Amino acid sequence: MKIAIYPGSFDPVTLGHLDIINRASALFDKLIVVVMHNVSKKPIFSVEERKEFLRRTTKHIKGVEIDSFGGLLADYAAKQGACTIVKGLRAVSDFEYEFQMALTNRKLNPEVDTVFLMTSAEYMYLSSSMVKDIALHGGNVADFVPAEIESEIIARIRKDG
Ligand code: PNS
Repeated sequence: MKIAIYPGSFDPVTLGHLDIINRASALFDKLIVVVMHNVSKKPIFSVEERKEFLRRTTKHIKGVEIDSFGGLLADYAAKQGACTIVKGLRAVSDFEYEFQMALTNRKLNPEVDTVFLMTSAEYMYLSSSMVKDIALHGGNVADFVPAEIESEIIARIRKDG
């Protein structure tokens, strides 16, 4: 059984993330989408909220599970028996940071490889930070986030963001 993990902050999940989840789920028997902590980010949504958004928007995709973990990605991969870490690449600007993380994770857990999937061209520019900024300033995020969680995201960001 080929198990892959797709880690991220997912604060909140965007159509760009879902594009990668759809692509990756077709390549592995099981894909675990795991909400993790990024030391350089201060999330707006709680881990439970982020997991709930992911659950609702991926429930129709076969082989996808949602989880969270507070430790190292390399340890989580070992715990789950995963052979692969999946990351999405948007633009060249993502590369350096992702390259550094992939090599660090390989050093920490040589059993696991990172594979990069290219996002659809229509989501190349999209990020959760952009979505939060647009929603906070009253803009339309309908083209960026899944329809089933759009109103909740907007309400929450405008209340607390
Ligand atoms: O969506 P993001 O914020 O780009 O995802 C980054 C994330 C959460 C995958 C990364 O920060 C991470 O792996 N955090 C867990 C702690 C860890 O393993 N750090 C070392 C990675 S090199």
